[in-house]
Amino acid sequence: PAEDVSLQKNLPFKFGAAISPGLMKSRAAYRDVVTKEFNSITTENAMKMSFIHPSANTYNWADADYLVDFAAQNGKRLHGHTLNWYKNVPAWVASFQGDSTAWEALLKTHIQTIVSRYKGRVASWDVVNEAFEENGKYRNSIWIQKLGEDYIARCFQYAHEADPQALLFYNDYGHEYGPTKRTAILNLVTGLKNRGIPIHGIGMQMHTRVNRSDADLAKAIETAAATGLLVHISELDIAVNPDNDKNMVWTAALASQQALKYKSIVKAYNAIPKAQQFGITTWNVSDADSWIPGQYDRPDWPLPFDANYERKPAYQGILDGV
Ligand code: XIL
Repeated sequence: PAEDVSLQKNLPFKFGAAISPGLMKSRAAYRDVVTKEFNSITTENAMKMSFIHPSANTYNWADADYLVDFAAQNGKRLHGHTLNWYKNVPAWVASFQGDSTAWEALLKTHIQTIVSRYKGRVASWDVVNEAFEENGKYRNSIWIQKLGEDYIARCFQYAHEADPQALLFYNDYGHEYGPTKRTAILNLVTGLKNRGIPIHGIGMQMHTRVNRSDADLAKAIETAAATGLLVHISELDIAVNPDNDKNMVWTAALASQQALKYKSIVKAYNAIPKAQQFGITTWNVSDADSWIPGQYDRPDWPLPFDANYERKPAYQGILDGV
């Protein structure tokens, strides 16, 4: 019967969402959908540096603990996001004074304090997020300024020392539309792997749009899989209003275009080797929770559940992809 259908039951790989502890507590419908539909959870913001480590000697564990506990109690995988990023750098780090040894200690302590706390309960991590520019060069982040390009390798080593069982990912966006950046990402992860740095997977964010071609999306997934690493579609959402029409309204035509795009992404993902399918994660649950409208100041409907937590045509598109 239809009521027994769920993403976690009906798909042959894990299907998850980025989750907000605030919404889990304040909206029953949100929590119900999360409980029923997903078998993987990513922390949307709770583990980002300025939230979890707001001053040098203060860690704010409450939100991250809440999600880790929820995942454990409900049999869901918890994917930690993110140990290192050029954004969400707290003020105390931005103004930190010290030589490269002191910076290394700061980074190591941050990563190892978090990974050790959740050892055995957080199965996998986005270790480094968004280290590249669109042109394939490294971003000029505080980390590269203070530690040089090899800060990336060190992040992976620090995380691995703290939890040798955890699966470690490099996470970024643009694989499906930026071949230059994609090549840089694939060269980085392959280089790390060849050096024996503990890296296990590639996270492809895939904040995409209905008019991205199926061929470009499939190529991104295939080239990531060709590295032999695990592949996580880590932050999927499909915008229907990429040209920022402030007056756009949701229509049945948009709904079916979006459903087809979800289907084609799932189909391409389902075609890579099973052993490399870490899973697909959408970036939050419903159109009411998506970061896209706020980020781009426009109406949009990027997710498989509508603002009332009802399944959209995109939901069926996902199921139809396998
Ligand atoms: C976003 C969150 O969804 C927002 O709530 C927050 O205000 C900003 O960050 N790429 C990432 C995610 O790796 O961490 C970002 O999440 C979305 C883009």
